[in-house]
Amino acid sequence: MNRLTVPVAVLAGALVLAGCGSGSGSDSGGGLSVTGAYMPQPMSADMAAGFLTIVNDSGTKDELTSVTSDEAGSVTVHETVGGAMEEVARLPVPADGQLVFKSGGNHLMFEKLKRKPEQGQTVSVELHFAKSDPVVVTMPVKSATYTPKTGH
Ligand code: CU
Repeated sequence: MNRLTVPVAVLAGALVLAGCGSGSGSDSGGGLSVTGAYMPQPMSADMAAGFLTIVNDSGTKDELTSVTSDEAGSVTVHETVGGAMEEVARLPVPADGQLVFKSGGNHLMFEKLKRKPEQGQTVSVELHFAKSDPVVVTMPVKSATYTPKTGH
């Protein structure tokens, strides 16, 4: 498991390509990139959750300040605290670190959807940050029970 034979210099350069998900829409916005974005196909027609990982390659911390989507009337950021979810205004993206949204933890909440997302479609979202430029992410819609197979 721990046999890392890739030289460190190569590893650093390949960081963006080596993302754990399918790497869809990994648009870079000044040191920030996004991997593993997906939306489980929602049960209801007007509400859905979304997950992704924001990777900060820079030595400067940032903050996710808002999320927008043309396909939803509102997108809010939730964190899960002690099993209950709470809306938060902003979440930190640590320097040389990650902000992870995953099932059972932080998630994006889409409300007032204009159409019900179906598996195989995509939903476009725009992430806004305190310092970095906005990053547009194309989230693939997966099955309702999809869980990402990542190495984390
Ligand atoms: Cu929520």
